[in-house]
Amino acid sequence: MQKQQLLYKGKAKSVYETEDNDLLILHFRDDTSALDGKRIEQLARKGVVNNRFNAFIMQKLADAGIETHFEKQLSDDEVLVKRLEMIPVECVVRNFAAGSLVRRLGVEEGQALTPPTYELFYKDDALGDPMVNESLSISLDWANEAQLARMKELSYQVNDVLKALFDAGDLILVDFKLEFGVFHDRIVLGDEFSPDGCRIWDKVTKKKLDKDRFRQSLGDVIEGYEEVAKRIGVPLS
Ligand code: TMP
Repeated sequence: MQKQQLLYKGKAKSVYETEDNDLLILHFRDDTSALDGKRIEQLARKGVVNNRFNAFIMQKLADAGIETHFEKQLSDDEVLVKRLEMIPVECVVRNFAAGSLVRRLGVEEGQALTPPTYELFYKDDALGDPMVNESLSISLDWANEAQLARMKELSYQVNDVLKALFDAGDLILVDFKLEFGVFHDRIVLGDEFSPDGCRIWDKVTKKKLDKDRFRQSLGDVIEGYEEVAKRIGVPLS
């Protein structure tokens, strides 16, 4: 499958059409962004690490019966995916408090959230991805009630599968973001899963091993991603 026209250049990935109208190619670049794209840097190896990380996680989700857009890893930094009609809502599951939840509610970072929480954000960088809810999503015609219910169910299923996977590597899955789309009338996971879109801490030391290393200028960003990859068994070469 060959890349054709560039359809969209995202903050970290470029999306290309293919000769099959149902399939797209994603190119994982080394670009790393924070502050809704206002801060961008190149981090060596990031595209390759995230592509391999994502392929590994997508296979684990498929094994658990969760349908994703993932079709096939094409090269070190390219993947073939289904073309979905994306729903402009980001779904966030949190097992422990961090990030915007800590800023919004003043709770302590690391506080356990029992049961895990589920939040929706409207995908719009210019607005800073504001928090929304199901009622707004339906009234603004982003998704219908059944689609939103399915997105929530799948998000929690992903949490169950991945919490256990990271736990086996002595890691804590703190939170993560997922996006979904429609493929032939079905809701399908249409997002990468990599340390760019989740928080992962060492179980004992609570060391941050995800994109917070970049957001908080902690250094060794990709080394953190590689450490996680090694512990959960992602083949990096
Ligand atoms: P938050 O604490 O900033 O709301 O983020 C929660 C989780 O979702 C965290 O793992 C980062 C991820 N996330 C993204 O990857 N992209 C986004 O646009 C948002 C809002 C969150």
